[in-house]
Amino acid sequence: MEKKYDVIHIGESNLDITVPEVPDEFFTEDASTFGCGLITDGCGGDAANQALCVASLGDHNALFGRLDNGMTGERIYSLMKERGVDTSLIIRDDNCQTRRIIVNVRKDGSHKFLVGKGVNYGLHQEDIVPGTLDQTKILALGSLFAMDTLDTEHSVSYALKFCKDAGGQIVADMTGDVHGLGPKFYEDLYEQIDYLVPSWDEGFYVTGLRKEEEMADYFLERGVGHVIIKLGDQGSFFKSAKERFYTDPYVVEPVDTTGCGDNFTAGFIHAYLKGLPMKECVQFASATGALNSLGLGANSYVRSEEMVLDFMRKTPVRKILR
Ligand SMILES: Nc1ncnc2c1ncn2[C@@H]1O[C@H](COP(=O)(O)OP(=O)(O)OP(=O)(O)O)[C@@H](O)[C@H]1O
Ligand SMILES: [Mg+2]
Repeated sequence: MEKKYDVIHIGESNLDITVPEVPDEFFTEDASTFGCGLITDGCGGDAANQALCVASLGDHNALFGRLDNGMTGERIYSLMKERGVDTSLIIRDDNCQTRRIIVNVRKDGSHKFLVGKGVNYGLHQEDIVPGTLDQTKILALGSLFAMDTLDTEHSVSYALKFCKDAGGQIVADMTGDVHGLGPKFYEDLYEQIDYLVPSWDEGFYVTGLRKEEEMADYFLERGVGHVIIKLGDQGSFFKSAKERFYTDPYVVEPVDTTGCGDNFTAGFIHAYLKGLPMKECVQFASATGALNSLGLGANSYVRSEEMVLDFMRKTPVRKILR
């Protein structure tokens, strides 16, 4: 049966309020008022970043989550709509307060997040009904360790099964375990995941293993179909039962690497939907991640498939000796 969506994204979506050029004195001096650069707002969170990038690359995707009925929810909702993400699955809820994050950027470019509290902003098992996760070719998790109520209610597995029973595929990104779920929290979930895309740090946290090959084996032994470990400026490592390979990084001078991992995952999903061979999918992902580093923010620089292809034609790859 033809699916309604190419991709549905579940996980984190928040409002990022970015405060640039925060003076060093703000952190040290006892005055009450300081000046800074131009304050802007935009979407943030792994699921939102991935959704915006996948939409820019041209696939029909939807964000499935809960947003408040006030200005914060409205802002995210309208930004998603403007950028071509299908908003028909978004639940607007009077009892919810969407989380806001203040990103303080110092003059040297380093940043410190202030993560505000949110209220009732997660998905619940009852939200997963026919017409949602059974209607997508790919369910993208952005990310494991940040599934909020689906984590605390132990319903992530239910969501994955709902999608897979209808013939969908699961792509799962990972993030830091800020809620203290523990490294073994998803041991029983891995067998449902077709493509797992952790960074080296996240893979190390879960497995306790330092070599990417051993890390990948850990997940493969527990039933993951394919593992891609993101290695930052060192590229990435892919392993499945059939093949293993490294992908060398593109040569870039990054302006801001926030969200490179989310853009990498989005690029992978797009190339996979086109039916490209696995090596080409990871190459396209690598280019999408690297391209994102050339602009400020986690979801505003990559705007089309052609932009990524053009970057691939013009940018050399740095050979890493492994
Ligand atoms: N400095 C860089 N040079 C070249 N490629 C990069 C660079 N940084 C990131 N990339 C590409 O983007 C991919 C993802 O980046 P990274 O490993 O930093 O992900 P991440 O830790 O999940 O990031 P985040 O969670 O902040 O989005 C890398 O595997 C690589 O292909
Ligand atoms: Mg990441």
